Amino acid sequence: MLRTNTCGELTKKDVDKKISLCGWNHARRDHGGVIFVDLRDRYGLTQVVFDPSHNKKVHSVAEHLKREDVLRVSGKVRYRGKGLENPKMHTGEIEIIADDLEIINSSLTPPLEIDDKAEANEEIRLRYRYLDLRRPIMQQRLITRSKVAQSVREYFTSHDFIEIETPILVKSTPEGARDYVVPSRVHNGKFYALPQSPQLYKQILMVAGMDRYFQLARCLRDEDLRADRQPEHTQIDVEMSFVEVSDVHEMIEGLYKQIFKKVLGIELKTPFKKITYDEAMEKYGIDKPDLRFGLELVDVSKAIKGSEFGVFNSILEHNGIVKVIVVPQELGRNELDAWIKFAQEHGAKGLAWMKVTGKDAEGKKSSGHSSSELKLESNIVKFFSAEIQEKILKATKAKAGNTLMFVADKPKIANEVLAKIRLKLGHDLKLIEEHDTKNFSFCWVTDFPLFEWNEDEERWEPAHHMFCMPKKEDLSHLQSDPGKVKCTQYDLVLNGVELGSGSIRINDPKIQEEVMKVIGLSHEQAEKKFGFLLEAFKYGAPVHGGIGIGLDRTVALMLGLHDIREVIAFPKNKAAECPMDGSPNDVEEKQLKELGIKFENVKKK
Ligand code: AMO
Ligand code: AMP
Repeated sequence: MLRTNTCGELTKKDVDKKISLCGWNHARRDHGGVIFVDLRDRYGLTQVVFDPSHNKKVHSVAEHLKREDVLRVSGKVRYRGKGLENPKMHTGEIEIIADDLEIINSSLTPPLEIDDKAEANEEIRLRYRYLDLRRPIMQQRLITRSKVAQSVREYFTSHDFIEIETPILVKSTPEGARDYVVPSRVHNGKFYALPQSPQLYKQILMVAGMDRYFQLARCLRDEDLRADRQPEHTQIDVEMSFVEVSDVHEMIEGLYKQIFKKVLGIELKTPFKKITYDEAMEKYGIDKPDLRFGLELVDVSKAIKGSEFGVFNSILEHNGIVKVIVVPQELGRNELDAWIKFAQEHGAKGLAWMKVTGKDAEGKKSSGHSSSELKLESNIVKFFSAEIQEKILKATKAKAGNTLMFVADKPKIANEVLAKIRLKLGHDLKLIEEHDTKNFSFCWVTDFPLFEWNEDEERWEPAHHMFCMPKKEDLSHLQSDPGKVKCTQYDLVLNGVELGSGSIRINDPKIQEEVMKVIGLSHEQAEKKFGFLLEAFKYGAPVHGGIGIGLDRTVALMLGLHDIREVIAFPKNKAAECPMDGSPNDVEEKQLKELGIKFENVKKK
């Protein structure tokens, strides 16, 4: 080794040792002849002193050091002296008095600060990712990611799982996104797809008798990017044979218990909460509820029946609903206007409101009121009879000083908008932290619908993927009423983020064909697309189920982050480009020729 120690290691007990350190010149200070350099590596910083009265030659070399030069320093460890210690640094008691200095490589002036205080803009960070990754915080994030991956491997191997790699050049695996495709040179005109997930392969591994499989699998999807979506992400991919839903849940709860304990020292409570899809939509308006706070939505469609408010009535007549969120605060006119604007920006036609007033609003009495002592006030209360107002108060359990916000619309829109309002309220009222590293609220959302109606194409689509086993009791109306069919799908949700998704799979070719029929896949189309899976099922398919969990999202949330790019070494930017390597890029004419590909590019002037 070129060094005897790392830059984060030496303390008072090493005083007088002769050592060598390697690292980057983090900072250089010239104190009237004596030069101090903070030498940095992954492990920390060590102060190096170049004193002309100690070694003139070495001092004169140090005079020319630039930021981020790579150095090798040899010298002796010495105590800094009383009052000169830096208690914030592990190496803060000592410094190195340099006897020798080698400039291994010099650096250009870095275009970003190697510092956690000032963050450069994203394009610069990604363009010079190697400099961005030198920042201690980025190094810590990748170290955490590595520890999580390690912990995942330990956990599954100790539970008899086998780690198996599945191919990257595959036949299209349907997960609902667009495929990335790779042209074949050997078979001109034909393409491989990059896997959106190992779904079909892990199911086939169950047919192959592997019993318990896991993989840290790369998944590639050509979809619109967001903070928690990248073109390539990593899944903790799991499949188990002869299991029921509860077995998969217990196995995954154990996994998270271990990861959180080992990596963060946090003891998670298991079992996680369970909530059905229907209940999640009813109470939170979303299938990935943030359960760190309450503010549950209330459907008042029934309570307001018979009112004279035309806006609500016409929506109710057209299969709409009216839902309320109770704000535990009195809102002023400006605040209400801002909420109305927010609701409209997120797709609502409008937002109605009512203030709850009553004796305890003034704080005279704080409890013991029946709702009949409370009153509703707003521009629209005149359309609601005293009886209906009473019903609204009862249904919402509102208290004096609260504000009710109403959204009337088709269930999908009313829920979407109110879910967004609820989340914003959670933040605004400080019920949840933006970068939470203490409160981890896990839940399983279960019993998802099997199909979703695609309005544009006027057809049923699988809500997750087409391999989820329908609930037994719903099998009979697969053809007659597909919208009613619930399935064994479960999602793992943490603080309002979908971490993972899985199900017990269909292992009966007859049920599989029925499901395909509903989504409009003919026998021939199904054969063409996944004939290999259907064929495998004919040779004895065990009952099996599993889950795919976002590793990137898991690590990000553990660190209180929302943007998964912060925990990926080389992510793509929002336009799916890598500013560092310049991908995607043109390929040479010769390569295209070999692949039998000809472009008809209309170049914009
Ligand atoms: P699904 O498509 O729900 O399920 O994906 C599982 C989990 O993977 C993560 N994820 C992503 N993370 C970052 N960027 C993306 N573009 C992205 N897409 C998905 C999410 C998500 O919950 N084969 C099934 C799993 C199964 O049924 O076993 C699947 O892939 O955290
Ligand atoms: P308008 O008749 O459009 O002036 O609306 C009367 C009140 O109802 C206003 O306070 C609107 O913000 C509100 N409103 C309109 N449409 C909706 C809706 N779909 N849901 C909730 N409130 C609405």
